[in-house]
Amino acid sequence: MYGIDAPRVVTALAVVAPALAAAGLFLYFRPVFASSIYNMVACGAFLLAAVGCGYSLFNMLYSSLIQKPQVAEHMLDLIEGIHGGPHYWNTVNKVLDVGCGRGLMMNAAAKRLLKNRKSEFTVCGVDIFTADLSGNTMRRPLDNAKAEGIPEGLVEVKKCDARKIDYEDSYFDLVVSSLVIHNVAEGKDK
Ligand SMILES: C[S@@+](CC[C@H](N)C(=O)[O-])C[C@H]1O[C@@H](n2cnc3c(N)ncnc32)[C@H](O)[C@@H]1O
Repeated sequence: MYGIDAPRVVTALAVVAPALAAAGLFLYFRPVFASSIYNMVACGAFLLAAVGCGYSLFNMLYSSLIQKPQVAEHMLDLIEGIHGGPHYWNTVNKVLDVGCGRGLMMNAAAKRLLKNRKSEFTVCGVDIFTADLSGNTMRRPLDNAKAEGIPEGLVEVKKCDARKIDYEDSYFDLVVSSLVIHNVAEGKDK
């Protein structure tokens, strides 16, 4: 629902890991070097590299699909805890998610607001929708909000660079962000 981070790296690992394993197995069953030691070393190196790539692939998928949603909830728990508990959400009217992607944090925040209060609120997501997340389009966070049962109009999305957010200072009561800053190139405006 909320996509896979760095999909190009994930795709590359999904291609390279089996290719390395196949090369290792090929050397095991069809030695190409005259010396069996060379064959075993080359076979071992390919298989080791395949395991390394496979492990990285597993980690990337696990973090995107399982851990990230848990971390988003944990971050909101921490915010709630720092501010004295669920009553905090009664004081929050406007939330910003910087680099919202497919809406993971913004929808988690909207669900918390819905759960803990009845009055109106707005959760805004801003992003430039790069290929750093699979299926990253401006429509996705809103589709996901609908799928999460968040009533229309409570969440909004803008295409906007995190470095030039076009809202006035102090407009938001809470600003959240997840896995975005590493995408911004080094420079004085990072
Ligand atoms: C790894 S994704 C994380 C998306 C989302 N926060 C999540 O946790 O699922 C990084 C996001 O940062 C966005 N991004 C990168 N540079 C940005 C910038 N300068 N301004 C706004 N968004 C940016 C990308 O388009 C992408 O959606």
